[in-house]
Amino acid sequence: MKIITVAGARPNFMKIAPLMEAFAAEPSIEPMLVHTGQHYDERMSDLFFRQLGIPQPDVNLGVGSGSHATQTAAIMTAFEPIVLAEKPDAVLVVGDVNSTIACGMVAVKLGVKLIHVEAGLRSGDRTMPEEINRILTDSISDLLFVTEKSGRENLLREGVDPARIHVVGNVMIDTLLKNRAKAEASTILAELGLDGQPYAALTLHRPANVDDPVILGGLLDALEAISRDMVIVFPIHPRTRKNIDGSPLAARVAGMANLRLIDPLGYLEFLKLTSSARIVLTDSGGIQEETTILQVPCLTLRENTERPITAEVGSNRIVGTDPQKILAAYREAMSGTGRKPAIPDLWDGQAARRIAKILVKVL
Ligand code: UD1
Repeated sequence: MKIITVAGARPNFMKIAPLMEAFAAEPSIEPMLVHTGQHYDERMSDLFFRQLGIPQPDVNLGVGSGSHATQTAAIMTAFEPIVLAEKPDAVLVVGDVNSTIACGMVAVKLGVKLIHVEAGLRSGDRTMPEEINRILTDSISDLLFVTEKSGRENLLREGVDPARIHVVGNVMIDTLLKNRAKAEASTILAELGLDGQPYAALTLHRPANVDDPVILGGLLDALEAISRDMVIVFPIHPRTRKNIDGSPLAARVAGMANLRLIDPLGYLEFLKLTSSARIVLTDSGGIQEETTILQVPCLTLRENTERPITAEVGSNRIVGTDPQKILAAYREAMSGTGRKPAIPDLWDGQAARRIAKILVKVL
């Protein structure tokens, strides 16, 4: 049974790592890995392959950046001949990036079964490119592997046959649990001069936040206030860096002594940074899940989440982008009066193994 697994962008890599390992352990699965090249910088891609021990991709499509249409079309055009030549029994895609939907469409149109890992998540916000990718990918998938109960409910509401849906847990958490001890040994905090000091960790890369100078300016207002309490470490995504550099916000950012902009970190360094932080501020999806397991308070700088379980049981607060609301939530989180976060069902490090077993049985 030949399965082509697809990865394209940074948040895909920690999801495919445990899948490739689980597939290698199943004699009836012949795994193949295709990297679309959506992310290509050393620090956005190769570093993750090395740290997570992901096998070298069999093929790298090398598509790179572009508008949504250009990028999606380039991935489809490059992926189609691979599927035609390799004749896989299934194509497996993860998450919600452009590589996910592009390769998904190619597979189903060639009559190849499509597997979606991390299916069913919905923010309800169709202005997010990822939400469109999620809805479309799920609607054409043959097998849908789900991380949390909301995912199953969303899919059932959309009319997906329950026989296709499997709640298996979270492959991203497989990777976190496996690498936690290794990350602990990282010297990143000493390198940043933060050993033993309270600090906040920040990530921002959503177009809705970083492509709009008014929103980004408002976020800086909140960050400025927080930075009076503690250092904020900000490993900055290339997209965000490009938007700040050369804009009127650049001088303001440079003037905030306690806001420390650094290059994107490797997986292990970032895990160490978040696990030791007093608080995490982010607009990422995956980091809401990781902080849930790490039991670090998380403020999600968005109006919605596709991962409601993290706010329901965990330490995540969906606070939006209004500076006053961010600061109010920050103070509440720092006062530490919140409940003790719980671990969502099946987020136990075994999700990829469950997926491999189901694939062997079903395909
Ligand atoms: C993509 C995903 C997003 C995910 C994010 C994580 C889509 C629609 N978006 O957003 O869901 O959360 O990855 O990082 O698929 N760039 C570099 N080097 C790189 C990659 C990108 O400099 O290795 C710059 C380029 O200027 C590029 C921009 O970042 O134009 C955006 O890259 P792109 O892949 O289009 O989307 P992301 O914002 O990274």
